[in-house]
Amino acid sequence: MDWDAPNYDRLSNPHVLWGRAVLERLELAGDEAVLDAGCGTGRVTEELLARLPLGKVVALDASPAMLDQARSRFAKVPGAAGRVSFVHADLLELSPTHLRALAPLDAVFSTATFHWVTDHDRLFANLRAVLRGGGQLVAQCGGEGNIASVVAAVRRLGTERAGTWLYASAEETAARLERTGFDGVHCWCHADPVSFPDREALAEFLQTVCLREHLGTLPPAERRRFAERVAETMPEPVIDYVRLNVVARAR
Ligand SMILES: C[S@@+](CC[C@H](N)C(=O)[O-])C[C@H]1O[C@@H](n2cnc3c(N)ncnc32)[C@H](O)[C@@H]1O
Repeated sequence: MDWDAPNYDRLSNPHVLWGRAVLERLELAGDEAVLDAGCGTGRVTEELLARLPLGKVVALDASPAMLDQARSRFAKVPGAAGRVSFVHADLLELSPTHLRALAPLDAVFSTATFHWVTDHDRLFANLRAVLRGGGQLVAQCGGEGNIASVVAAVRRLGTERAGTWLYASAEETAARLERTGFDGVHCWCHADPVSFPDREALAEFLQTVCLREHLGTLPPAERRRFAERVAETMPEPVIDYVRLNVVARAR
């Protein structure tokens, strides 16, 4: 089931706040070529482009719906034409050919995406392949223990959350980066819970983001009610996000 891109765009304020903090870790002169790996609807990508007045951004995503929404966004951003290119690709299938016009890139930036990619060795090797030597990898995604209260609430309803994800630890991620061609590796996790005004808002968010894959296994008429039941089963209208942060340089 593809993302509901308009709803994601509306509900992704937590992602934008996370993205801004990660963006501050990118060391930019303003003329670099940077890949946003898993750009979604482009809200954070737009802030990345603003830091590159003389540079370029490759906005890459595997979701046609997300990429369409990102294209619509940038059609309205003054000065974006010619500085943003869109690539529809799976990060596990990424190659310099996909990025022929811009590779080797100066940096890869990514937020709230890597945990949806279940083979991190291959992911990091692919990202290394499109970076120049010394190029930066600055990223954040769900880490070990991420959204445990959502997983537990689904379990209390008598089922396991369907879908694929990888909430890796900082230690295993650092080891993976070092063996796939990165130096200066710094990885750490931090808790970053997100509170919702009420359980209805929580259910809407769960439906669009955390339970998207699970709900795809249910008949359409049952999806909203399931998200509401999970929201009602959680101890409070708070999602216990854990973010895995990555800073590294291509060897
Ligand atoms: C939660 S959204 C984050 C979007 C954006 N970075 C943000 O912070 O708002 C996750 C994005 O990762 C993309 N994604 C997941 N797996 C991917 C893969 N294997 N290759 C490329 N994109 C992927 C999804 O399509 C989705 O747009």
